[in-house]
Amino acid sequence: MKHRFLIGNWKSNLTIRESREWFRDFHALSSSGAIRTDLLTIALAIPHTIMGSARTFIEEHELPIEVCGQDISVFGEGPYTGEVNARQMAEVARFVIVGHTERRTHFKENDAILYEKARQAKMYDLHVVYCVNSEHHAIPPEADIVSYEPEWAIGSGKPETPEGANDVARKIKARTGVGHVIYGGSVTDGNAGAFAMMSDIDGVLPGKASLDPAQFYRIAVALSTAR
Ligand code: PGA
Repeated sequence: MKHRFLIGNWKSNLTIRESREWFRDFHALSSSGAIRTDLLTIALAIPHTIMGSARTFIEEHELPIEVCGQDISVFGEGPYTGEVNARQMAEVARFVIVGHTERRTHFKENDAILYEKARQAKMYDLHVVYCVNSEHHAIPPEADIVSYEPEWAIGSGKPETPEGANDVARKIKARTGVGHVIYGGSVTDGNAGAFAMMSDIDGVLPGKASLDPAQFYRIAVALSTAR
């Protein structure tokens, strides 16, 4: 069975207190052993304010979760008020999302900025999860995982079909040589398995569904068992 990736994206949600409940609930569920940690990498893209306490909980309870950034600064260290740079991120996270549609739309991030962010991330050995909306999008050589996320499918409750996403994933792999392509956009515990079963899809990136620990756990189990 191929190795899969589950990248949850909390976006701008949850406080430290709320996140503790999430981790406690996920921990209780995951102790059943149904998640195949040898076959599935789970990363959780969480707000900066939560990263330190989340990391401590994950380490103390040996949770099968990697901390992921939702974004990083295009700059290195220096006078860039409000920014978290790649070196700082690498202290708490192993993965980072670059180029999410919400960054492109609300913060006007373009390919030049996103290529530089990917370069910054790689300088500190962060695994880059690079998001694109279509098969034609430019993809930097630093991308470790590409997440295909059609804009209309994000947060809409209307996912792409597994076959349609697989077709795009196959084309992205053929064009760029990237090893892993995952799918994002209205992923739930009801459809995650169908995406995971596709030959060229190596996992999923749920946003809303990752806020519910029980649903996130069920997605992890679906990805552990999908053939
Ligand atoms: P969603 O978000 O699962 O809420 O549609 C997906 C995403 O963040 O790409």
